[in-house]
Amino acid sequence: MLASHLFMPTLRDSPADAEVVSHKLLLRGGFIRKLSSGIYHYLPLGLRVIKKIEAIIREEMNAVGAQELLMPFVLPQELWKETGRWDVYGKELLRFKDRHDHDYCLGPTHEEIITDIVRKEVRSYRQLPLSLYQIQTKFRDEIRPRFGLMRGREFIMKDCYSFDKTEEEAKKNYGRYYEAYKKIFTRFGLKFRAVEAGTGAIGGSLSHEFQVLADSGEDEIVSCCQCDYAANIEKAESRNGETCNRCCQGTMELFRGIEVGQVFYLGTKYSKALKAHYLDEKGEVQLMVMGCYGIGIGRTMAATVEQGFDHQGIIWPAPLAPFRFVLVSLSTDSKIMEACQKIDKELSKNYPDDVLWDDRDERAGVKLNDADLIGIPVQIVVGPRGLEKGEVEIKNRKSGKKENIKMDQLIHVIKSSDYRA
Ligand SMILES: Nc1ncnc2c1ncn2[C@@H]1O[C@H](COP(=O)(O)OP(=O)(O)O)[C@@H](O)[C@H]1O
Ligand SMILES: [Mg+2]
Ligand SMILES: [Zn+2]
Repeated sequence: MLASHLFMPTLRDSPADAEVVSHKLLLRGGFIRKLSSGIYHYLPLGLRVIKKIEAIIREEMNAVGAQELLMPFVLPQELWKETGRWDVYGKELLRFKDRHDHDYCLGPTHEEIITDIVRKEVRSYRQLPLSLYQIQTKFRDEIRPRFGLMRGREFIMKDCYSFDKTEEEAKKNYGRYYEAYKKIFTRFGLKFRAVEAGTGAIGGSLSHEFQVLADSGEDEIVSCCQCDYAANIEKAESRNGETCNRCCQGTMELFRGIEVGQVFYLGTKYSKALKAHYLDEKGEVQLMVMGCYGIGIGRTMAATVEQGFDHQGIIWPAPLAPFRFVLVSLSTDSKIMEACQKIDKELSKNYPDDVLWDDRDERAGVKLNDADLIGIPVQIVVGPRGLEKGEVEIKNRKSGKKENIKMDQLIHVIKSSDYRA
């Protein structure tokens, strides 16, 4: 991809209304723009990150047997009345009337809607278990939208819902999603903890939050340094440095975190309210047992930046970077452009659609600053002096490590070193 063809409006300074690092850098790097309070555009660079997040989620959801579908975003009042949530949800539920005076809302979450499909289509134990998910825009009319993508009104979420025959099977399924979430956040390249959580308005009795560790996080968590145990500070019995009596007695460490995902065991809360029944092996009527599993996609993007940045800009983990390589031609001199063209072609053959060639007719300093700002993991810089010796410079954005290497060794070095990213 040529930077001269890419809509990447970078900014020198942070917009005044951006308070947190991720909001500032995503605006400055040309990843997002604000349309209205809590409502954002994803510009091409931002959308590339979103798509990388979504691709990993899809693979891991499909791997545990969940099937993707897409539900409507405009939802009729009736189902919300059936569970009673039309009246308890409050102002976060954005409601409106159509031309026939029928009440609707914009979907903030889809337990009612998915349960309605399943109760209509699933009759027999033979059709269970069933898990369905979607990746979709949600709307919650947050009282105080803030921090850019972190707490928006309109945001993208992956929401998955499982239907099982028995409590025991549903709890086993919960464990499988818990493991799938660990895989997802590990594949993102993020430091995170799975934290015991309360179940809030969604209801149910068993829940974990997935927290990306970042100093700017709103949540305080304690985590055992020897096992997997972690909890919100209100729930935890132990503090920093103390040993924990909820797990293996290891020493507890304090962290701040950003909630990017949550898994819930719902039990029969929704299947009871909406009469989602099936017939078991003996022909007896039973309630389906449910779970739900969400990941905030835009918030994951913001949390990734909160965990990876420096004075120059964003530092993406390779799996989520909009491009894995940025090739910077320090001038538009024909020899340099020819060399870059060769490198671009060869690199793109090995890493399709993952190379951004900054071919713009801009000052070298502007291009190098932009490369740092947008946080591409590996920079390849082609300038006149190196080229005379047949060399290019390669830099690891995260470590700052730089070296000059022969052009014909480039692919080999990338594939056999930590530049592989
Ligand atoms: N206002 C928001 N803006 C961005 N992402 C959100 C917002 N609200 C929730 N999310 C994301 O969606 C995920 C699932 O939402 P859920 O757990 O139902 O919401 P909450 O934690 O607000 O009750 C959250 O873990 C979070 O990543
Ligand atoms: Mg939550
Ligand atoms: Zn422990």
